[in-house]
Amino acid sequence: MNKKLPVILIGGGGHARVLLDVLLLCGIPVIGVTEKEKPAVLFSVPVIGEDDVILDYSANEIMLVNGLGFAGTAGKRAQIYDFFKEKGYYFEVLVHPSAVLSQMVHMAEGVQVMAGAVVQVGCRIGENSVINTRASIDHDCIIGRHVHIAPGAILAGGVKIGNKAYIGAGATVIQGISIGNNSIVAAGAVVVRDVPDNVTVVGVPARVVQK
Ligand SMILES: CC(C)(COP(=O)(O)OP(=O)(O)OC[C@H]1O[C@@H](n2cnc3c(N)ncnc32)[C@H](O)[C@@H]1OP(=O)(O)O)[C@@H](O)C(=O)NCCC(=O)NCCS
Repeated sequence: MNKKLPVILIGGGGHARVLLDVLLLCGIPVIGVTEKEKPAVLFSVPVIGEDDVILDYSANEIMLVNGLGFAGTAGKRAQIYDFFKEKGYYFEVLVHPSAVLSQMVHMAEGVQVMAGAVVQVGCRIGENSVINTRASIDHDCIIGRHVHIAPGAILAGGVKIGNKAYIGAGATVIQGISIGNNSIVAAGAVVVRDVPDNVTVVGVPARVVQK
């Protein structure tokens, strides 16, 4: 039988607590949670110290789960991922049991798919990206690295999302659109034209508000 390695969850905030719930639901053993301002336990799982405690474990005896959310920028989440990858650690792919995924979806290392999400045939999801609660990703979407698709967002077919982009809660991106690297789509926006790199778009139809 292919036994899962035990996990260390990085961070104890809101996103991390949702992940911890998935880990416990899936019966994946959790060694502990890393967190600065530490309560003694998170649910029933011990807080084991700050992130550097991970270095006390060898890379082939544990898996990591990145519990950092977006917090205004993908930077910190991406930084933590890249730091531990460079040191040879591996990040678990986590999928909530209620998510619906086509068998023809490619998920790279560290991808997280939350409750009620749907990912359709032909999609590719890049390293360390999050498909959050009840998001809907239709056929043939290509999602980059360190992307966050927030709760309830909808990507129609053939959408491309650049690295470190963020699609806000309840936003809709119509078919065939490209969203640039590091760009942010506001909550509730409807994107009907390509979005360049490094901008924020808001509204219906979405327009650029910040460069
Ligand atoms: C787009 C967003 C990142 C902008 O945040 P910000 O950089 O702090 O910018 P501001 O709040 O100063 O807003 C800038 C302008 O955009 C408008 N705006 C911001 N968010 C908007 C939204 N969702 N829809 C429509 N307009 C919006 C503001 O009213 C403001 O307009 P003004 O200059 O005419 O007053 C943020 O509002 C947002 O939508 N974040 C996504 C939240 C989300 O999905 N959370 C899920 C967590 S898992």
